[in-house]
Amino acid sequence: MRSLFFSGLFIFMVSLFLGYPVLPGLDEAKGPQAPTGLRCEYLVNPLGVDTLKPRFSWVLEHGERGQGQSSYEILVSTQPNAEEGDLWASGKVDSTDSTQVVYAGKPLQSGSSYYWKVRYWDRDGRQSPFSQVARFDTGLFSRADWKGKWIGGKNQLRKEFELGKKALRARAYVCGLGYSELRLNGHKVGRNVLDPAWTTYDKRALYVTYDVTGYLQTGPNAVAAMLGQGWFKATVLLVQINIELEGGEKLEVVSDASWKGMDGPVVANSVYNGETYDARLETPGWDRAGYDDGQWSAAEVVAGPKGVLSAQMMPAIQVVDTIVPLKMASPEPGVYVFDMGQNFSGWAQLRVRGQRGTAVKLRFAEMVYDNGMINQENLRGARAEDVYILKGEGEEVWEPRFTYHGFRYVELSGYPGVPAVNGVRGRVVHTAVEPVGSFACSKPVLNSLQRIIIWGQKTNLHSTPTDCCQRDERMGWMGDAQGTAEEAIYNFDMAAFYANFLRDIRDVQDEKGTITDTVPHIWGSRPADPAWGTAYPLIAWYFYQYYGDRRVLEDYYDGIKKYVEFLRTRAENDLVKFSYYGDWVAVDRTPGDIVSSFYYYYDVKVLAEMAKVLGKEADAKAYGDLASAIKTAFHREYFDPKTRSYANGTQTANTLPLFLDLVPEKMRGSVWGSLFDNIVYKNNSHLTTGIIGTKYIMELLTNNGSSDLAYDIATQTTYPSWGYMIENGATSLWELWQLRQGPSMNSHNHPMFGSVGSWLYKALAGINLAPESTGFEKIRIVPQMVRDLRYAAGSTRTVRGEVSSSWSRDDRTVRLEVVIPVGSEAEVVIPGFNLENVVIKEGDQAVWNGQGYKAGIQGIRSIEKAQAGFLIKVGSGRYAFKLQGD
Ligand code: BGC
Repeated sequence: MRSLFFSGLFIFMVSLFLGYPVLPGLDEAKGPQAPTGLRCEYLVNPLGVDTLKPRFSWVLEHGERGQGQSSYEILVSTQPNAEEGDLWASGKVDSTDSTQVVYAGKPLQSGSSYYWKVRYWDRDGRQSPFSQVARFDTGLFSRADWKGKWIGGKNQLRKEFELGKKALRARAYVCGLGYSELRLNGHKVGRNVLDPAWTTYDKRALYVTYDVTGYLQTGPNAVAAMLGQGWFKATVLLVQINIELEGGEKLEVVSDASWKGMDGPVVANSVYNGETYDARLETPGWDRAGYDDGQWSAAEVVAGPKGVLSAQMMPAIQVVDTIVPLKMASPEPGVYVFDMGQNFSGWAQLRVRGQRGTAVKLRFAEMVYDNGMINQENLRGARAEDVYILKGEGEEVWEPRFTYHGFRYVELSGYPGVPAVNGVRGRVVHTAVEPVGSFACSKPVLNSLQRIIIWGQKTNLHSTPTDCCQRDERMGWMGDAQGTAEEAIYNFDMAAFYANFLRDIRDVQDEKGTITDTVPHIWGSRPADPAWGTAYPLIAWYFYQYYGDRRVLEDYYDGIKKYVEFLRTRAENDLVKFSYYGDWVAVDRTPGDIVSSFYYYYDVKVLAEMAKVLGKEADAKAYGDLASAIKTAFHREYFDPKTRSYANGTQTANTLPLFLDLVPEKMRGSVWGSLFDNIVYKNNSHLTTGIIGTKYIMELLTNNGSSDLAYDIATQTTYPSWGYMIENGATSLWELWQLRQGPSMNSHNHPMFGSVGSWLYKALAGINLAPESTGFEKIRIVPQMVRDLRYAAGSTRTVRGEVSSSWSRDDRTVRLEVVIPVGSEAEVVIPGFNLENVVIKEGDQAVWNGQGYKAGIQGIRSIEKAQAGFLIKVGSGRYAFKLQGD
């Protein structure tokens, strides 16, 4: 008591001293709080917003449960305090929308900064304080805003310019292909690497916007750029720096023939093969003012990419982490092999001292042979080799700029002397999407699984969702992308990333409506395998469902319809049979045509749903009818009454029709039986599915009351299973269920089997969108308390705020804590809790006493007995339930 009193007094004194409002009144503390998490076009303070009608989102905060927004007010201003709302003062708008609210103020200008804030009124009409001010900057809206020219000819370019006064605001817009590093007055600008994102350059090239105010100085300045080959496989640069000086003068520094160039120390670079850097060719001071570039040649004005310029509106690739090696060995004299302990994408940073001209070679691999030497066999055509040639000046620290590798092991040769174990460090490089999810449970193998999913997923986000990061591919293979999209959405903030990827897909579509297996298109075919092409409708649909974004449907509806219409031209008797990969890398092969027909149905059905959302009644009807026709044809063609199975009766062949309800009601039981037999008796509760079947089978089992079996599958440690990968040392997901280490196709970092990641959240933590709901406005928390699982906890930050569910149990008790965002509501289902004399408490208040629900607890709307369990309806807030029975 005493110490409580004294600490209370202490806080009181401190608040007085700091001038805080002393101990806010109780009601004030409980009421609506200032909104947080302000985003414009899914990004916090984005630069280069290139839409005239950006959208705003915020997260509601409230001290009470069961609350939400009834009205909001937004102010958008040219002034940093956003007091005025001189561009848009929305006034009090009666609406529950707190995501993707469309800008409706005065026209936005190109290349400008804007500031905004928001407040809301809760359901009882109480007003929140305003949020903090957030900023967004528009990009260059039209080609005419670009005053510079594309230049090239050399890979290192520079230009000096003079500023007569202090710069108050400066933005650099830069597109340097394939990759570029912008430098100002001796410093690299920003933290992006491997920039800009890879696109179909004939259609669209991305420029990156930087706030460079702080890099400039009054007097002489220098701007410079280094260029790499990247995926463009040539080097060109377009830069524009718009500067506002004290006193109001404005000027532009742009790329043109007045720039100078030379080919610097990066003597070779390629995404797959690596980089060679000759430090003897460095020209110190080249990126600062006052450097004598008399020997440099004039930059050439060159043709740029054919596509339009558009702003890069997603997180860039960055060095996200640094890893110190676990150990170093020397399997042969002069050869040192470092084990990073983790398979990842990126490169190594080298530290070395030695004589000028010494060449140190770094080679990268996912595996080592028994003798400790690295095994690069599975890299196929990718050389994965960096070379650093010393200048011979003390300690030299170097890392490449224009390549990346997928690896766990680094081999050093040519090193002068013996390197220290931290002579190299791993630099983890990928698109810097924000992690938003976490999952953990009482079963160690599932925690390991979550870990390898996370590594597999994030290190395969390299501006496109790549298949792998080590061998000669690293492409946006669409089948892999669609299969992992839901998992990725639970684990990372993927909104801006997929918004960009959908544009990438649109960019590859041709007049016939076809799209390609890889986006941008390098490998694979046109038209895409239907199980790959489905990424277009499915990712758009997931986007709509998880982020509640209708504009995505508006923007892509026509393209998706065109794609579906193309598929229709390839249909015979309502089935689409062409297929190249089908249920890719399965243990038991499923005929490709059933997979293609399944996706034909799926795509048409999703299109019909989209039409419904957009109010396109005629399309909704027409595609609804087409879907029914496909459904009939599918069963007629693939069902075999003798085997009570579809096609050849593999797990995938029966899973697909069950998942989308293509099985006539009266046959459902027997098809279930066949699937069950196959899994349990034939395969001892192991999967034999490829990436397609795997995506659906776990969820199918859970949705049909077989979570125990799904759990058995998920926790296997013998072949084929995720646990088998883990037992065999996987630190990221493998491409194959099999352990292979030879020259064949076997990447050890391939995210596609990580589709099970969404099942961990949906089934074990129990976090689901309610059917028919979008953007987590309505939530269903249905944790599966299976077998020996004693606890599980998951949380994911949604567009409306954090959703979390964590539970634990013993024989008679279940504890469940859930967090529901303000403005959302949830059905919480505790299945299989069928004890007698159940008492449910929330915190320390009884809310169910054996007979029924005790009303009057804030946020709890109802409690019912349901299917051998309980159904609790709640509004927003944090709840701690405890169920106890005999
Ligand atoms: C890629 C895959 C891809 C597949 C298409 C492979 O080489 O790595 O992940 O989906 O080809 O069949």
